[in-house]
Amino acid sequence: MYPLSFMFVIANLLLFFSQFSDATDTLALSQSLADGSTLVSKDGSFELGFFSPGSSRNRYLGIWYKNIPVKTVVWVANRNIPINDTFGLLMINNSGYLILRSKNMGNVVWSSNSTKAALKSPVVQLLDSGNLVLREGNGENSGIYIWQSFDYPTDTLLPGMKFGVNLKTGLDRRLTSWKSTDDPSPGDFVWKMQPHGNPEYNILKGSKIYFRSAPWNGMSYSGNPQLRSNNIFNFSFVNTEEEIYYIYYLEKKSEISRIVINQTSNRRERYTWDEASVSWNLYAYVPNDYCDFYNRCGPYGNCIGDASPICQCLKGFVPKSPDQWNSGALSDGCKRNRSLGCSEGTGDGFLKFRGLKLPDTTYSWVNKSMNLEECRAKCLQNCSCTAYTSFDIREGGSGCAIWFNDLIDIRETSSGGQDLCVRMSASELGMYYSDLDVTP
Ligand SMILES: *[C@@H]1O[C@H](CO)[C@@H](O)[C@H](O)[C@H]1NC(C)=O
Ligand SMILES: *[C@@H]1O[C@H](CO)[C@@H](O)[C@H](O)[C@H]1NC(C)=O
Ligand SMILES: *[C@@H]1O[C@H](CO)[C@@H](O)[C@H](O)[C@H]1NC(C)=O
Ligand SMILES: *[C@@H]1O[C@H](CO)[C@@H](O)[C@H](O)[C@H]1NC(C)=O
Ligand SMILES: *[C@@H]1O[C@H](CO)[C@@H](O)[C@H](O)[C@H]1NC(C)=O
Ligand SMILES: *[C@@H]1O[C@H](CO)[C@@H](O)[C@H](O)[C@H]1NC(C)=O
Ligand SMILES: *[C@@H]1O[C@H](CO)[C@@H](O)[C@H](O)[C@H]1NC(C)=O
Ligand SMILES: *[C@@H]1O[C@H](CO)[C@@H](O)[C@H](O)[C@H]1NC(C)=O
Repeated sequence: MYPLSFMFVIANLLLFFSQFSDATDTLALSQSLADGSTLVSKDGSFELGFFSPGSSRNRYLGIWYKNIPVKTVVWVANRNIPINDTFGLLMINNSGYLILRSKNMGNVVWSSNSTKAALKSPVVQLLDSGNLVLREGNGENSGIYIWQSFDYPTDTLLPGMKFGVNLKTGLDRRLTSWKSTDDPSPGDFVWKMQPHGNPEYNILKGSKIYFRSAPWNGMSYSGNPQLRSNNIFNFSFVNTEEEIYYIYYLEKKSEISRIVINQTSNRRERYTWDEASVSWNLYAYVPNDYCDFYNRCGPYGNCIGDASPICQCLKGFVPKSPDQWNSGALSDGCKRNRSLGCSEGTGDGFLKFRGLKLPDTTYSWVNKSMNLEECRAKCLQNCSCTAYTSFDIREGGSGCAIWFNDLIDIRETSSGGQDLCVRMSASELGMYYSDLDVTP
């Protein structure tokens, strides 16, 4: 018989080694991850494993913060197909795909989506950023991934993730809310980049636009007073031939912050972790006020938070349905008091409006190198051009942004608004000659 103390040492050693072997961040071809064990990123920030959300008994493979006590899941693999037992298994199969299978459910529940060729000795690794990557075994620092979870976000945008689209590959990194806190399957609340002429993002509720960011003006989304430089995170908007995305990074490694598209609150929210209160602090969110909701005031209606009625027609426009407008139904919007001269050959000019959240850019066009004079001329050339402004407001403004069709979802903002030159009949302009904002 061994002495009891010796047995204890052995038992503790076994425990130590089992925990030690648990705390790995990689899984190789011959290995698998069973329900109950986890991968932990090198610096202990993130953990990958199986979990049951809220009061659900379903099992999902997910990633959560390892270093905070409030379990917060940031990514879910099999959000559409839950595993209904505790025999889930994550592994790399012989074709080099990351697959999730369940003993009882038999077949593959979820697999990584990659079109690239299979690898020689693939490994999957949970990085300190919270990104789960599939890569060549000897390619640790190559930054080349066959597949990465950051390309397939769930409802959370972590620092270093690209929110947006790759125009070459068609990859659309959009975020979709969980259905509820008990169910990570896709809800009907979507945060999505719209890569049209002058890109902007939308939050969709079902098929309807719920919130619109307005286009990027070089510093922020036009008319968004919330997103400004701060000491928690920096951010940038990349708009090239190849990619259009928003990205942010934390200024300090000790900070924890995430953006989530939240079906429960019907908001897109940024949270920061508050060490002192051991809880998440709601840092910013949209929609933030009445005028933030998409198209409150209809075409050419300007949503002004402290005005009565809250919707005001732009100067030179009148309510489309005056009776409804007066009784508070404002969504029909406004129409021109005088039709444009363009088609009649009587000529048009522009009236400049200040401090606006720029209108919906679905029907728009951009030239990054034109100046404002050229932009104005470009707009006058086409009868369906309704407005123009600078594409980028930095250093006095540069580039040309042009709108076609009716101007929708305009609001006045307290800060961060932009000037917009709206096309008017030249005869209409005669009425505003005393106004400094006229650009005939
Ligand atoms: C690996 O998984 C993928 C995706 O499910 C599948 O298409 C492929 O046939 C699997 N390969 C093997 C060897 O099982
Ligand atoms: C789990 O799912 C499988 C496949 O859908 C099904 O056959 C089985 O009955 C389910 N088990 C339970 C306990 O619901
Ligand atoms: C996987 O790729 C196919 C084809 O490109 C695409 O239709 C599908 O949506 C992708 N699935 C995921 C989870 O990205
Ligand atoms: C943002 O922060 C990251 C990480 O601290 C840093 O690498 C990057 O250079 C910063 N970018 C800008 C534009 O300040
Ligand atoms: C969504 O909002 C609800 C209610 O405000 C909050 O309790 C919950 O934690 C939020 N969800 C996430 C994923 O942050
Ligand atoms: C509309 O035009 C008429 C003249 O045609 C003018 O009297 C009226 O003030 C204009 N209304 C607005 C709101 O510009
Ligand atoms: C953009 O504007 C520049 C400068 O006026 C011009 O040279 C260029 O052809 C324009 N590009 C397009 C696509 O119109
Ligand atoms: C005016 O712009 C619209 C929208 O881009 C386009 O469809 C139309 O062809 C243009 N018309 C002219 C005369 O250039």
